[in-house]
Amino acid sequence: MFYKLAQKVMFQMDPEVAHNIAIGSLKMTGNNPLNCFYRQTVKPAPVECMGLTFPNPVGLAAGLDKDGESIDAFHAMGFGHIEVGTVTPRPQPGNDQPRLFRLKPAKGIINRMGFNNKGVDNLVRNLVAKKTDIMVGVNIGKNKDTPVEQGKDDYLICMDKVYQHAAYIAVNISSPNTPGLRTLQYGELLDDLLSSIKAKQTELAEKHGKYVPVALKIAPDLTDDEIKSISDSLIKNNFDAAIATNTTLSRDAVEGLLHAEETGGLSGKPLTDLSTQVIKKLVDNLDGAMPVIGVGGINSAKDAQDKFAAGAKMVQIYSGFIYQGPQLVKQIVDQCDVK
Ligand SMILES: Cc1cc2nc3c(=O)[nH]c(=O)nc-3n(C[C@H](O)[C@H](O)[C@H](O)COP(=O)(O)O)c2cc1C
Repeated sequence: MFYKLAQKVMFQMDPEVAHNIAIGSLKMTGNNPLNCFYRQTVKPAPVECMGLTFPNPVGLAAGLDKDGESIDAFHAMGFGHIEVGTVTPRPQPGNDQPRLFRLKPAKGIINRMGFNNKGVDNLVRNLVAKKTDIMVGVNIGKNKDTPVEQGKDDYLICMDKVYQHAAYIAVNISSPNTPGLRTLQYGELLDDLLSSIKAKQTELAEKHGKYVPVALKIAPDLTDDEIKSISDSLIKNNFDAAIATNTTLSRDAVEGLLHAEETGGLSGKPLTDLSTQVIKKLVDNLDGAMPVIGVGGINSAKDAQDKFAAGAKMVQIYSGFIYQGPQLVKQIVDQCDVK
């Protein structure tokens, strides 16, 4: 009820202004009685994934709380985990505004934010300051001005800094808004990146006496052969999970709608089926070697159930959260047959 009201007001505003106000308000209220406006009790539905036990299988997808400013507020909403980031070694402003667009009739969003974030050191400070014990995954990327050939170094710098503070680390090579980033999804560049990350994980596990799983987040815009080759590389390098999917470059599902021609990644309902198909293919190729976390266009409990049916072990939401509010978390946990 409160969310519907808040949404009415927010949807009158520029999307990025609304986003900043929301994150600011959540930051201020996450740990005090004012969180009653969004706090909810979600029944326990524990799930084992990547060797960790999550209180329920519904997470907040990366990009909404990039700098980890409102983690406790998302805990109050009942999320089983939150993925903060994408964070880069150095702060960067991201692309020029406007860079965020609502496609309301389609319940979609197009963004070309370009990893705007306050840098990994700031994120670590926020992770240390959080009050609740919610599982936090940290999604890492490379700075825009780091050449793709040296991109690996940025991922390793971020890993070093966040390792002790993360439940898991998600390696993002699938954003369409950082030039060249998606080329890391292919062939030798991918193998080299994954093996370096695995070696770093082994080194850090020894140093800190703690094993933090690593997951790879992939795009939905991949051919069957590409999904197969990524799966092979994930298995070869002993990764702990795959996250599918990021936003799509395709506009097939939104042709003719206002903002449909904006450059960037499309998310929300128009992505639902494409993402589910990729999850299914990934699950088939991985053949039980590691879990898949399903994300992309989950706008109802039924959409989440389709992701579980495709083989996802957990799910994440972003656009569905904007259109449906926190109650979507509860609906999914209550209504889905979660194993
Ligand atoms: C405004 C916006 C910013 C995003 N930023 C990131 C990001 O920084 N890193 C990332 O891995 N994914 C990012 N995503 C992608 C989401 O995490 C998710 O994979 C995608 O939106 C599909 O899920 P959805 O349909 O539930 O939104 C972003 C999505 C949106 C809409």
